[in-house]
Amino acid sequence: MGVLLAPSLLSADFAALGAAMSAAEAGGADWHHVDVMDGHFVPNITIGPPVIRKLAKVATKPLDTHLMISDPDRYLNDFAEAGCAGLTVHWEACTHLHRTLGAIRKLGLRAGVSVNPHTPVSGLRHLLDDLDLILIMSVNPGFGGQSFIPSVLDKVSEAATMVGSRAIVIEVDGGITPDNAAAVVGAGANALVAGNAVYSGPLSAIGPNLARLRSAADAGLAARGRAAR
Ligand code: DX5
Ligand code: ZN
Repeated sequence: MGVLLAPSLLSADFAALGAAMSAAEAGGADWHHVDVMDGHFVPNITIGPPVIRKLAKVATKPLDTHLMISDPDRYLNDFAEAGCAGLTVHWEACTHLHRTLGAIRKLGLRAGVSVNPHTPVSGLRHLLDDLDLILIMSVNPGFGGQSFIPSVLDKVSEAATMVGSRAIVIEVDGGITPDNAAAVVGAGANALVAGNAVYSGPLSAIGPNLARLRSAADAGLAARGRAAR
């Protein structure tokens, strides 16, 4: 399977999200990454279920929703009803993570856990049967357009080894560009989130931006294949 590309709408024009999503879909996006921030878990506020409900009406690709919110359990139902395909909660925001993941799956959604740059992935070892996606943050969450933290690459490799042959998506989020995407995929990522690298320019640049990301991701996959031989 190829690498899943999930452009983050956080960097798109919020007054024209439908057009941004269409351009990304035409350019080969696999998912739409939706960043939800509450001004409490992270120092920024974005969008919630009412906006996502509208996005879901026009999107033809799944909405991969990243909940950077405290106490996410309160809102799982609302996000499911809004039309999200997957919900990723933060390790640091959940006291009873096993229960939260069970609740997400019970809603019929892909259950993900995100870890901040300082949080080890090893703690997820006991939850591998309970999750569908691990989202490794390569910036401190809260804002688009930050620089990739290179030490996270080790954590991506560690996650890939830990996951083994299980059907768990390893997604990396923050500061992804065509310059580092091959290394991130080479380390074991099979999904990339990219905000600024896809959406910072005009609508007409979204397709070419995705094409550059795709060829870097493919190069990373090829390098991984060679390393495995
Ligand atoms: C950061 C968000 C990311 C962000 C990525 O808190 O979770 O999804 O939008 O944007 P870039 O690719 O610009 O770092
Ligand atoms: Zn995100």
